[in-house]
Amino acid sequence: MTADYIKSVITTVADYPKPGIQFRDVTSLMQDSKAFGTCIDMLAEHYRHHQFDKIAGTEARGFIFGAPLAKALGCGFIPIRKFNKLPRPVLRQSYQLEYGEDVLEIHKDAVHSGEKILLLDDLLATGGTMLATIALVRQLGGLVEHAAFVVNLPDLGGADKLTEQGITCHALCEFE
Ligand code: PRP
Ligand code: HPA
Repeated sequence: MTADYIKSVITTVADYPKPGIQFRDVTSLMQDSKAFGTCIDMLAEHYRHHQFDKIAGTEARGFIFGAPLAKALGCGFIPIRKFNKLPRPVLRQSYQLEYGEDVLEIHKDAVHSGEKILLLDDLLATGGTMLATIALVRQLGGLVEHAAFVVNLPDLGGADKLTEQGITCHALCEFE
């Protein structure tokens, strides 16, 4: 089982959610038990020698990959959620998407100052989602140097924006 196989089970949907968007749909990967398990194993292996206190996973698919990775690495898990989904006091950050605008929130007590946080999402496109996540974690004093993805879309420039923020990105596969 390799990164090539993981890439091969990600489905491309043309013109979703808007005309002109080639949507890389990881739900077909998640349905494949071997591919899904291998994703988690490969990410866990990559970060085996790092020490993270918590993984911050971004709604919605960042939860699906982030929670089992947190278990594998022995970390806690922080859900970064869309507007008004978290019940206790939050920090809020609005951001631009490839196809719209949205708001992310984090519980104010989710990160303690000085904790090392690994960021996790299924896919990196323009980087707007991850930049908003970084801003939230850093406002709480979290130390953020690494972000992990199943898919990177390099043509959309997200990885470059994260590098400018001092973040090292790791993705299991890329689509041009
Ligand atoms: C997708 C994807 C990432 C984000 C990447 O989520 O899961 O979180 O877009 O795009 P970006 O790098 O341009 O910010 P989406 O906003 O579609 O939300 P969902 O997971 O709730 O469907
Ligand atoms: N797939 C999933 N989420 C996304 C994509 C995509 O191709 N582009 C921006 N967010």
